[in-house]
Amino acid sequence: MFESLEPAAADAILGLIGEHRADPRSEKIDLGVGVYRNEAGETPVLKVVKKAEHRLLGTQTSKAYIGTAGDPAFNAAMQELVFADAVSADRLVTIQTPGGSASLRVAAGLLLRANKDAVLWVSDPTWNNHTPLLGGAGLNLKTYPYYDAASHSLRCDAMLTALRGATPGDVALLHACCHNPSGLDPSEEQWREIADVIVERELVPFVDMAYLGFANGLASDVFAVRHLASKVPEMLVSTSCSKNFGLYRDRVGTLTVLAADADSRAVVDSQVNSFVRTMYSVPPDHGAAVVSIILNDPQLRAEWVEELDEMRERLSGMGSLLHAALQEKAPGHDFSHLLHSKGMFCFLGVTPAQVNRLKQDFGVYMVGSSRINVAGITPGNVDYLASSIAAVL
Ligand code: LMR
Repeated sequence: MFESLEPAAADAILGLIGEHRADPRSEKIDLGVGVYRNEAGETPVLKVVKKAEHRLLGTQTSKAYIGTAGDPAFNAAMQELVFADAVSADRLVTIQTPGGSASLRVAAGLLLRANKDAVLWVSDPTWNNHTPLLGGAGLNLKTYPYYDAASHSLRCDAMLTALRGATPGDVALLHACCHNPSGLDPSEEQWREIADVIVERELVPFVDMAYLGFANGLASDVFAVRHLASKVPEMLVSTSCSKNFGLYRDRVGTLTVLAADADSRAVVDSQVNSFVRTMYSVPPDHGAAVVSIILNDPQLRAEWVEELDEMRERLSGMGSLLHAALQEKAPGHDFSHLLHSKGMFCFLGVTPAQVNRLKQDFGVYMVGSSRINVAGITPGNVDYLASSIAAVL
């Protein structure tokens, strides 16, 4: 039976992990997959996570199934973190999911059960896995303009025009902050305009929030979600704790659905949970239990915010560090867009052939679109990185 299959292409992002690992050059640099790295190039377990894990090991008394929705204390804490009092809790359903990806997949399942012809509008460009994951689930995808590669700027007017052309009931996938891959987010003013078009066209916002805390901090990064929630009858929000809690491999996320009223909330709740049962049955517990301990303990929560702020501050300095090094090594080339991105990613702005040369000749790894993870830049490697880029320009 399997002889009918062709080999699948390596994943454009995850494939780089293995390629980088296999590269014997000591000067190699990994700007590929979105994991945070400190100045030493490491991705350590957060100190607060270690503390919470220690507490969990000492107090956990059972490994029995936790149910399709996961841990209620985790779900309540995450719901409060994201929505606070932006909307009445009796319209919200939150479930624990195995990372942000499973959250997206469950959301797709729910949307298809509600409307098998649902059209999902995604930004051009968007996260490499959005299209295979959500399109592969069966949703019809269309794109709205988002990023202008020539000027490295947000195409907000073109985005609004495209959304004005959407059909009522269509779903708009939006990145809450730290747009992946461009690193460019709408301003609060622009978010208000986007929300107005969504309301006017009766679209359903579906917000992917994988980088909460990495753009401008917790208080500001929730703006889009809370503003939309205060305006629309229905929406979906996928969160991930991979980056902000550093729990990548533990797979922790949530799906929250905002329903029009408490009655439809009950129906959505039953549908989401029955879908989960057919997909992965119950989510893994460990990472979510750790997040729950942290968010429900004021002292640990404050320590987490401090570590999150440190990660964000390091990321925000790396674009300027590379920009300064490139001014020296590649004078005459404008890389000022590196100064304006938020979070982990931005486009370096070189061609696929140059991306390939950087890999082959210099051991510098990035996604083919020239998306770079700025967490891979350190004061120790920035000169080599800038010289390598200058050499391929
Ligand atoms: C990324 O975009 O690099 C991250 O979200 C990791 C992933 O799964 O692709």
